[in-house]
Amino acid sequence: MNSNQGNYGRSKKLGYKNDLRIKAIENGTVIDHIKPGQALNVLHILGVDDDFKNTVSIVMNTDGERGGKDVIKIEGRELTEKEVETIALLSPKATVNIIRDYEVVSKRKIGTPESICGIVKCVNPNCITNSHEPVETQFIVTENEKTKTLALRCVFCESVMTTELFNYII
Ligand code: CTP
Ligand code: ZN
Repeated sequence: MNSNQGNYGRSKKLGYKNDLRIKAIENGTVIDHIKPGQALNVLHILGVDDDFKNTVSIVMNTDGERGGKDVIKIEGRELTEKEVETIALLSPKATVNIIRDYEVVSKRKIGTPESICGIVKCVNPNCITNSHEPVETQFIVTENEKTKTLALRCVFCESVMTTELFNYII
């Protein structure tokens, strides 16, 4: 190893110690306080696949002293309302921060929606929304106070969905 490489290695190590876990972004969106373990599902909702061109950073299970969280930073892209509503199903406590010129210009706590339309499929195969009729799905959302889990009640067939909501996202 020559001396240059040696110096580089040392300063890099010191730099790592002082670095934020993911660097700040100039423009785009930071989805913060994502329920630990849900970041990959959120990426799926945002359509992050091998064709996705924007820079994406992700950290999982960070901020351990407060119970942990996942964070996703997407450069040069804001979220649609539908994407935010879908993320709410997996992680209602997440925040969506819009960053412009390195500043947080808006911070939105996603929260639990009262109802959701056209985002998840009804579990009941006989529901009108699963027939050939052009009927968009619609659910009333309630939160179980004890377990903090969400329940979706179909307004058409009254079926209640509480688990694996991710698998029913349209
Ligand atoms: N952030 C970023 N790039 C910027 C500005 C902020 O990546 N140019 C990130 C921060 O690292 C943080 C999130 O955006 O994860 C929100 O930033 P900020 O509101 O400054 O942080 P907090 O006050 O800690 O947010 P909260 O109170 O919502 O936890
Ligand atoms: Zn139904």
